[in-house]
Amino acid sequence: KNKCFILKLKETLMLIAANWKMNLGKSEIDQFSKILQSNEFHDSLDICIFPPSVYINYLNTRIENLPISIGAQNCYHEFSGAFTGEVSPTSLKDIGCKYVLVGHSERRVNNNESNLYVQKCTSAAIKANLIPILCVGETLKDRVSGTALDFIENQLIESIPSSFENIFVAYEPIWSIGTGKIPSSSEIKEMHKHIKQVISSKFNNSIKVIYGGSVNPSNVSDILNVNEVDGILIGGASLNPKDFLAIYHSTVKHLN
Ligand code: PGA
Repeated sequence: KNKCFILKLKETLMLIAANWKMNLGKSEIDQFSKILQSNEFHDSLDICIFPPSVYINYLNTRIENLPISIGAQNCYHEFSGAFTGEVSPTSLKDIGCKYVLVGHSERRVNNNESNLYVQKCTSAAIKANLIPILCVGETLKDRVSGTALDFIENQLIESIPSSFENIFVAYEPIWSIGTGKIPSSSEIKEMHKHIKQVISSKFNNSIKVIYGGSVNPSNVSDILNVNEVDGILIGGASLNPKDFLAIYHSTVKHLN
């Protein structure tokens, strides 16, 4: 019974996701882990770090005693076979990953990942018992011309599998990633609400929506104050352990 209650509570946790992208190597991971080891963590949050896939295991061995999950930055849509260079979702599960990012805008642009491709990867991740964090986001052109809501709606409809139990959506406006620019609180609220409405009306399901794009220690409180925000996806600021922990402590404060 207790376990059920804890699991239920856990389902409502806020998520802090740290996307390291193609950054940091062994010595930086050692330093980063040392700083994490001296931090006090609270149970009220789910934290996940997404290192480059070759370092997933290395990072895991250094922080496995901490309440921090490990995730992968992408996965393929097949479990095994002649797919040179691809990463299988079942392998990721096998080495201890909990989450996987799918359809990050950098992969959509640089690797030509279409909505259909992203949908297949999301389905495979679910089948492998990983929790997908499906990234969506509009370009500046869409934002300026007033078509952002429609663009995201279409991206969701085409990228999300028809049935799912546990998925996060990360709303990451492309014009905000790595630029220091963030949408206003009302724009974030409007989009997160819209995403939840689309999921409810088209998929008859509910979903958690986290915000990503230039999150840093000074803007995180304002972002978290938007009550439709269920967590954050941090890129650049997660590479610096001090900034990452400052964001973590602001989030804990916000929850208390
Ligand atoms: P950023 O990246 O925080 O550096 O803007 C976010 C992301 O791409 O996930």
